[in-house]
Amino acid sequence: MTTTVRTRVAIVGAGPAGLLLAHLLAEAGIESIVLDRRSRAEIESTIRAGILEQETVRVLSESGASERVLAVGTRHDGIELRFEGEGHRIDFPSLTGRSVWLYPQHEVLKDLIAARLAAGQDLRFETEVTGVGDVETDRPWVTATTADGDAVRIDADFVVGADGSRSVVRPAVTGSSTGGYFREYPFAWFGILCEAPPSADELIYSNSAEGFALISQRSTTVQRMYFQCDPDAAPDALSDEEIWETLQARVPGTALAAGPVIQRDVLRFRSFVAHELRHGRAVLVGDAAHTVPPTGAKGMNLAVADVVLLDRALQALLLENDARLIDAFAETALRRIWKAQHFSWWMTSMLHTARDASDFDHRRQIGELRSVVESEAGQTFLAEAYTGWPHEGTPGRGSLSE
Ligand code: PHB
Repeated sequence: MTTTVRTRVAIVGAGPAGLLLAHLLAEAGIESIVLDRRSRAEIESTIRAGILEQETVRVLSESGASERVLAVGTRHDGIELRFEGEGHRIDFPSLTGRSVWLYPQHEVLKDLIAARLAAGQDLRFETEVTGVGDVETDRPWVTATTADGDAVRIDADFVVGADGSRSVVRPAVTGSSTGGYFREYPFAWFGILCEAPPSADELIYSNSAEGFALISQRSTTVQRMYFQCDPDAAPDALSDEEIWETLQARVPGTALAAGPVIQRDVLRFRSFVAHELRHGRAVLVGDAAHTVPPTGAKGMNLAVADVVLLDRALQALLLENDARLIDAFAETALRRIWKAQHFSWWMTSMLHTARDASDFDHRRQIGELRSVVESEAGQTFLAEAYTGWPHEGTPGRGSLSE
């Protein structure tokens, strides 16, 4: 027995992209159903990155999707690039008029889920999508199985794949589960959460002969830090003491405040852009459409930019029967996506040490870092990308009221 329900937009994936899209569509009076195979607890507790561009913060706060982002998040006006033991601060407001906010992704997800449930939105956890079809017609559908084993079919006007890098919607859009432009990296990040006071007020991106490290923060008592490791490293292979030794050796010049490591993970990374973002009445957004290495903190911000574009395109299509924006969606989204791909690749290659790097490579890398920090143009290039290019149709400068 299959239960059939009807909605306007079937959204697969309750991550930042899917939930924000449902929120923005509801504001415009467009009904949707969001499905995710994970439980609410799993979604709300998965540790992800924490830097939000100013435009991301604006969208989240002005749409009412997250009231806490400005109250609880911390504004950061710069980052430090460290190499050869010396720190070089990049000051965002003076270079770009913008800042970023430190507010962890799982907190954004808690806010979005609470807002959607409070509004009575149809949000289904532990529901696994089993098929997507008829995307070339104006009645596409999604089939799924609930945790109890019940089958559901959702008939919709549009299907959105916001279901992450292992997207099950992707084959309906690109014709294959892998089809895309792709790059792997010979390193990964060993990430920790620790109980300790902050070691620095702002993020430190450190290049050292031993490899890259990133000092980030979470709160006055919990910190997030990463160091470059082998992609095959096992999270449990190092003791707390070895972790602190490794981190400290890579951030010379700052005495790190150590403390108990309360969580550890190895993040493999890669760059990916799907060959197609849209086919008929199915579209991909967020990690289903593209993946970036975490060095530029672009992942969630790019998902939000996709969704802002898609929300406008779906409103025009579904409320006014105007297909121009949805027809332009892929091309418009891809301009920003490839800029973010370049930035994430560039930050990664400039800051990490490849295992087979020669002396030439290392000296060239220091020359590259100097070209950035010793030039206002170089610093501005980095600051513009890091704080986020303006969204289509917005001025992109000016401060956010707190
Ligand atoms: C984080 O705090 O988790 C974080 C910050 C900046 C990055 C990546 C991760 O580039």
